[in-house]
Amino acid sequence: MAEKPENLNVIEHPLIMRDVTIIRDKNSGHEQFRNAVNRIANVLASEIMKKAELEIISVETPLETTFGYGLKSQVILIPVLRAGLGMVSGFITVIPDAKVGHVGIQRNEETLEPLVYYSKVPVSIPDAMVIVLDPMLATGGSSASAINYLKTRGAKSISFACLVASPEGVRYLFEKHPDVEIYTAAFDRELNEKGYILPGLGDAGDRMFGTL
Ligand code: PRP
Ligand code: URA
Repeated sequence: MAEKPENLNVIEHPLIMRDVTIIRDKNSGHEQFRNAVNRIANVLASEIMKKAELEIISVETPLETTFGYGLKSQVILIPVLRAGLGMVSGFITVIPDAKVGHVGIQRNEETLEPLVYYSKVPVSIPDAMVIVLDPMLATGGSSASAINYLKTRGAKSISFACLVASPEGVRYLFEKHPDVEIYTAAFDRELNEKGYILPGLGDAGDRMFGTL
């Protein structure tokens, strides 16, 4: 395994390790793939939320008033279109009051530069805890562009959640956005000449939505 950079959190939970095996398996169909992604997203969401700040609030039990806790910041999930959509439902199960913004990234055919072609993000983004969702951190181009864009919209606290990360992608994202912590279910060996992660799981969007 490549050396683990400091902004990278690889979640080595037994359930995640079992489910990553399911999504790697070329014989898993889109239903199995989606279900496993949902379960992985549940665990990733719980791990990321460990760092959420709390505020003390008052709560009335049936017997008396006492104190309790609320989340200090609104959580905003930002799936990167298209494959990031597949992680939303698993995150929302754990953070039901999260808002959801969307960012679409497409590579310019000539320059190969990733560009934002669609976006709709909540205006409260500057004060929110933002979690960017994209299953694959391959070259890092798509996620770095999405995060660039979110910063132009005022986002300050950003985490990045993925299913599989490559050493190249983690290095690139750290170089461009050292303030962003990465959470992944698997940290893989390398990229191939076509920019696919090895051993990886193939094209995440196609496998998730059955467009193979
Ligand atoms: C995949 C994946 C990431 C991107 C990662 O999306 O979901 O967004 O590739 O690659 P990178 O780190 O090299 O930028 P893709 O462009 O295949 O689109 P899709 O979501 O529609 O499948
Ligand atoms: N995008 C994918 O869907 N899979 C990879 O391995 C790399 C980029």
